[in-house]
Amino acid sequence: MALQMQGVGKRYPGTLAVDNVDLEVYSGEVHALVGENGASKSTLMNILAGTFGDYTGGVLVGGKEARLDSPAAARTGARSTGGRLARIWGNLPASGERKGREGTCLARGAATPLR
Ligand SMILES: Nc1ncnc2c1ncn2[C@@H]1O[C@H](COP(=O)(O)OP(=O)(O)OP(=O)(O)O)[C@@H](O)[C@H]1O
Ligand SMILES: [Mg+2]
Repeated sequence: MALQMQGVGKRYPGTLAVDNVDLEVYSGEVHALVGENGASKSTLMNILAGTFGDYTGGVLVGGKEARLDSPAAARTGARSTGGRLARIWGNLPASGERKGREGTCLARGAATPLR
């Protein structure tokens, strides 16, 4: 399994935004996260991006526990796991007309030149 979230939670002051979320993603799968405004889509993805040091629950990358409590930790797939996580934003002006695969290169540090 590429990615697993187990009982993940995130509380802002006064708001329990993410409550006990489980997610399983296998290699090669494509998922869509759909919800109304304020449903916590961004918060859930921000957890995977290492935005918060105070999320609860567990995240496994490549089957190994990862602590995504900083962007650097998330970028390296939480180091110890050997896996990698990258978040891309489709609506950034910097993304221009780039396709998804090129955007992924951008998120990973653009190992290959972008056209
Ligand atoms: N920094 C913050 N401090 C306090 N509450 C927050 C913060 N960021 C988000 N929230 C609240 O957490 C909840 C989830 O917000 P989030 O932005 O993750 O939702 P979303 O599904 O991405 O919404 P949208 O469709 O508008 O992008 C909302 O109730 C929001 O008001
Ligand atoms: Mg959002």
